[in-house]
Amino acid sequence: MYRFFMANNLTFSIIKPDAVSRHITGKINSMIENAGFSIIAQKLIRITKEQAQKFYDVHQDKPFYEDLCNYISSGAVVVQVLKKENAVADYRKLMGATNPANAEEGTIRKKYAISIDQNSVHGSDAEDTAEREISFFFSKTELVGC
Ligand code: CDP
Ligand code: MG
Repeated sequence: MYRFFMANNLTFSIIKPDAVSRHITGKINSMIENAGFSIIAQKLIRITKEQAQKFYDVHQDKPFYEDLCNYISSGAVVVQVLKKENAVADYRKLMGATNPANAEEGTIRKKYAISIDQNSVHGSDAEDTAEREISFFFSKTELVGC
């Protein structure tokens, strides 16, 4: 893991397989950009099961861990780095609640999520998590946006 200067301006996002397979990456990116975020790095990848297990290791004791790792590695995803003042908190707000049934109007999950597991997007939950998650998928030189 590498460290950032002014890390509170960055967060890590995944557009999950349910959204990429429904061809709504562009619509989600529109919501992200309309909310004032800059997408400073982005790539379409397929996460391996092993990467998923590492990425989600904080959930390894949860009953949904195995299904979650299988799901996130089941198809293409878009991983991205978003920049904005208060990026972590503001992106959590834009995403909405984990369960779309509880998500507020105007949030990505309210609009697009199918269920609590196929909930279209991931966002870091704290600044130190954002640093860990960004460096998990991106090298420093890949953060090219402004
Ligand atoms: O993604 P978020 O931070 O809102 O939720 P989380 O508690 O960190 O859980 C990570 C992911 O696990 C969620 O986004 C869901 O995809 C999945 N999950 C699930 O399938 N069933 C649950 N009861 C809770 C979470
Ligand atoms: Mg989380």
